[in-house]
Amino acid sequence: MLGRGPAEIKMKPIVCVTNTFPEAGLEVLRPHCELRANRSGKRPAPEDLMEMVSASAGIITYLSDKIDANIIDRGRHLQVIANYAAGYNNIDSAYAGQKGVWVSNTPGVLHETTADLAWALILASARHIVPADRFTRGGKFDGWAAKLFLGRDVHGKTLGIVGCGEIGRAVARRAAGFDMKVLYYQRTRLPADEEAALRAVYAPFADLIENADFITLHLPLNRDSEHLIGRRELAAMKKTAFLINTARGKVVDDGALVEALRTGEIAGAALDVYENEPALTEGMTDLDNLLLLPHIGSASVETRDRMAVLAAENVLDALAGKKPRSAVNAVER
Ligand code: GLV
Ligand code: GLV
Repeated sequence: MLGRGPAEIKMKPIVCVTNTFPEAGLEVLRPHCELRANRSGKRPAPEDLMEMVSASAGIITYLSDKIDANIIDRGRHLQVIANYAAGYNNIDSAYAGQKGVWVSNTPGVLHETTADLAWALILASARHIVPADRFTRGGKFDGWAAKLFLGRDVHGKTLGIVGCGEIGRAVARRAAGFDMKVLYYQRTRLPADEEAALRAVYAPFADLIENADFITLHLPLNRDSEHLIGRRELAAMKKTAFLINTARGKVVDDGALVEALRTGEIAGAALDVYENEPALTEGMTDLDNLLLLPHIGSASVETRDRMAVLAAENVLDALAGKKPRSAVNAVER
């Protein structure tokens, strides 16, 4: 083509996307970069990630891509790692910052969808929805019976929210419709007006564990939250309590949870995330009082599109020399 200006001749920065990604996000990136998307449907091996990092100015990662110092060191002109998730414990973001690389996540777009799923799990575990479906489709339903799948009420009970960020608060808002008493715990107490708007009462961690009928986890994984729920906490819960984990698997000692469910120390649990994800802890699949989902908290069509667009915008911010709009680290230059 004739008459190309210098701007068009300039090479576009390379952006790699490590795995399947919504078209809505690819569309945002396409005009501004040379896009290299892994469309194999397979999770990249560490060597693949190294190769992508070494070629890229920006990279969009899954929460299952472990981006450690070893991989970050391969970056030659890497400016940003945009995680396609709210949680970013899969990335050594402090090290990336030391190397001048931004790390971003996707806040503000998935909390309502994840709160919906936490509620689906609260209701499903209280009312044995999954075993009851299996029973019915298995041809075992032979008429109404007084004691068939007796569950527990959700309405009027006490909900315990551990971690009251945007997801925890979205879970709390929904509790009003079920006329629940809401206790929450996190390190920093919410301002009084926010507590009042949520009708949520701050409780010390031990009090929440002992008093809640449904305990739902909405905190990030870090050194302080690893195994926050272990044998001791499970033993302190009510025998009729349910535990819901849609946060990160390592917040719970899954081995201790299996034991507590087996011995009836608590009534039930529902998990969307696992300590050794995607592997399940031994014994999990034998338990009727445990509901298992494959990490689908943010998995709605609308939300995955919003997350993809936001991850793409974070990449473009960095490529334009700006701080990405949802940067999670400080960068040394
Ligand atoms: C999902 O788990 C996320 O962190 O977005
Ligand atoms: C249940 O279906 C009832 O009528 O109580």
